[in-house]
Amino acid sequence: MSASRTDNGAAALMDRMYRHQRHIYDASRKFYLLGRDALITGLAPPKGGTILEIGCGTGRNLIKAAKAYPHARLYGLDVSEEMLAQARKSIARAGLSERIQLAQADATAFDPLALFGVAAFDRVFISYALSMIPPWRDVLANACTFLTEGGSLHIVDFGDQAGLPAWFGRALRRWLSWFDVTPRLTLEEEIRALASARGLGCHFSKPLRAYAFEAVLQRP
Ligand SMILES: C[S@@+](CC[C@H](N)C(=O)[O-])C[C@H]1O[C@@H](n2cnc3c(N)ncnc32)[C@H](O)[C@@H]1O
Repeated sequence: MSASRTDNGAAALMDRMYRHQRHIYDASRKFYLLGRDALITGLAPPKGGTILEIGCGTGRNLIKAAKAYPHARLYGLDVSEEMLAQARKSIARAGLSERIQLAQADATAFDPLALFGVAAFDRVFISYALSMIPPWRDVLANACTFLTEGGSLHIVDFGDQAGLPAWFGRALRRWLSWFDVTPRLTLEEEIRALASARGLGCHFSKPLRAYAFEAVLQRP
C-alpha cells in the first residue's frame, strides 16, 4: 500500500521504463551517474542517525550508505515497484534488510510517518531523480520539510556541461531524452531561492566541468 497522496501516472511510466532495464541498471549506470559516491561520503550522519533516499531505484546508494555508516537507519522510497523489487533483492543479498526500509511513494507528495513511522530525517538525498520527475521543484520543496534540526538535503544530478565541449552536451542531452531524462539547468537558482525562502544554508557546486550539479541544503 502506498502512503503517497498523488501519483500523476509516474508509477506506470517508471515501471514501463525499468521493467527490463532494472536488471542491467547498476552495471550500466556506473559509467554515467557520476558523483553518487561523493554524495554518500558527504552525508556523514550523526551516530544512530536517519537517512532517507528519495527515488532510491535499485537500492545501490542505500546499500553503500548502510556500509559506510553502520550505525545509521536507512529508508528509501521510489514510485516504481519494478525498481523496488530490484532494490529488495539487492538489499537482501547484502544482508541489510533489517537496516534498510523501502516503500512505494511519489516524491512530490508523501507522508514519511505513514510510510516508515519517521517524521523527519538527519539526512535526505536525491540522486539523479530530479531529472526524471517533471514537477521536480515540488520534490525539492517537499524534501526540505522532512529535515530534523541540523539535518541536510543532498542532491546530485546532471549539470549543464558548461565546461565540456558543446557537442558533448548536445549529444548527452539527446541520448538522455530517450530515457525521459531532462537535466534541470535552473537547479542552482531554484536551490538558492529555496534556501533563502526557508532559511537554510546552501552549498552548490558543479564538479567534473559541470557534468554534474551537486547541492547541500542545511537546516540550522
Ligand atoms: C535515474 S534513477 C536513479 C536511482 C538512484 N537514485 C540512483 O542514483 O541510482 C531515477 C529513479 O527515480 C524514480 N522516480 C521517478 N519518478 C519518481 C517519482 N515521482 N517519485 C519517486 N520516485 C520517482 C524512478 O523510478 C527511478 O528509480
